[in-house]
Amino acid sequence: MARNLIVGNWKMNRTASEAPSLVTRLLELVPAQLPVEVVLAPPFTSIPAVAQLLAAANHRLSLGAQNAFWEDRGAYTGEVSVPMLADLGCRYVILGHSERRHLLGEQDEAVNKKVKAVLRHGLFPILCVGETLAERQHGQTEAVIRRQLDAGLDGVAGQELKNLTIAYEPVWAIGTGQAASVEQAAEVHRQIRSVIGAIGGMAAGGAEALRILYGGSVTAHNIGDLLSSREIDGALVGGACLDPEVFAKIINIAA
Ligand code: G3H
Repeated sequence: MARNLIVGNWKMNRTASEAPSLVTRLLELVPAQLPVEVVLAPPFTSIPAVAQLLAAANHRLSLGAQNAFWEDRGAYTGEVSVPMLADLGCRYVILGHSERRHLLGEQDEAVNKKVKAVLRHGLFPILCVGETLAERQHGQTEAVIRRQLDAGLDGVAGQELKNLTIAYEPVWAIGTGQAASVEQAAEVHRQIRSVIGAIGGMAAGGAEALRILYGGSVTAHNIGDLLSSREIDGALVGGACLDPEVFAKIINIAA
């Protein structure tokens, strides 16, 4: 497994008709065999088109989704299940993103059910955690992260944690152009590693192997510095992944 993982979260951008030009250009700019793992997470509606392009290009980029529901099927209007995503070729699912927590009221309990559903079907959850600016200013960062991890991973067996990726996304850094410093990110990543180590009853070596991504205003200018920290194992990229030239630069720097 490559150490670094770079995930492009398109959020609610690009229609299914617009998606192919972005992906086609990205495939031209990024070598097929990369020493870094790359995941594209388009909106649900673009997943089939992106899946088709990636399969045709025989590229190592993989596919992710930005959310999933915890039940497999049934009367859940508007939701999309993990088996539906797996059927389209998704490997990763982003869960508990701060936009879902803060704009849509998603609670830790729902995030926990989703994490378990993704693991149950053999996919890889990317669990997002992060504090708001007010929480940081009140010295609550560590407590918030601990709560989100404890609740989000409640009932997840130690063995299953090996399929888990955490994304630390300070809410104040998302879409603001004000990324966390390497030191700020690394400090929280260390706390995350220690909380997960305790949750999983993992030996120190186990928690060391956990991949922890940083997200929040990642650009081609700051990715190199961020990845120079041994605590940071990749990035969850929002705005910058919508420009294939910029996203390719980020990937190539991470490689
Ligand atoms: O999922 C991605 C993050 O929310 C970061 O977004 O790179 O636009 O700040 P951003």
